[in-house]
Amino acid sequence: MFGKKKQALVVYHTKTGHTAGAAEAVARGLESRRVKATVKRVSEVDPTELSDYSMIAVGSPTRGGKPARVVKKFLRGLDKKALKGKTATTFSPYSFIRGKATLRRIKKLLRRRKAKVLRGVAFKAGAPLSLWKGPEASDKDVLRLEELGKKLAKKGR
Ligand SMILES: Cc1cc2nc3c(=O)[nH]c(=O)nc-3n(C[C@H](O)[C@H](O)[C@H](O)COP(=O)(O)O)c2cc1C
Repeated sequence: MFGKKKQALVVYHTKTGHTAGAAEAVARGLESRRVKATVKRVSEVDPTELSDYSMIAVGSPTRGGKPARVVKKFLRGLDKKALKGKTATTFSPYSFIRGKATLRRIKKLLRRRKAKVLRGVAFKAGAPLSLWKGPEASDKDVLRLEELGKKLAKKGR
């Protein structure tokens, strides 16, 4: 009668909290489209659980113009076909430069694991070297992140 609810994993790394806040916004977007969203830190994800999800959103702060090492390590450690048949997207806060470069790097790693990858969202938040938390994402960027969740829900069906 009614199909099982689709499931998405929103996985992220954070130091000062901006990527965690973004993960919650992406999850709200997914849930608003009736997709069950599980939000986890990358360090909490067991690769074997990926088979539970048909969608995955990966978030990382921009660090030295790249994704955080722990995020790259997680993606590189996945089987070559771990994301086959899944729809994916990416998000990254940056404080001044190269947020989009971070998205491109994550996208490449997701594609190598056979995911279909939608365009992600880079947004300005935080302080250059995270000595303090720095400015929050703007309301407009929070909306963009929620929209990203909605887009993933739509394309991931
Ligand atoms: C070691 C380090 C390197 C960073 N490198 C960059 C960078 O290359 N470009 C940039 O715009 N921001 C850079 N930042 C700032 C973070 O991307 C920004 O503060 C982000 O919001 C942090 O996310 P988080 O709160 O989830 O940890 C860097 C921060 C740290 C700690």
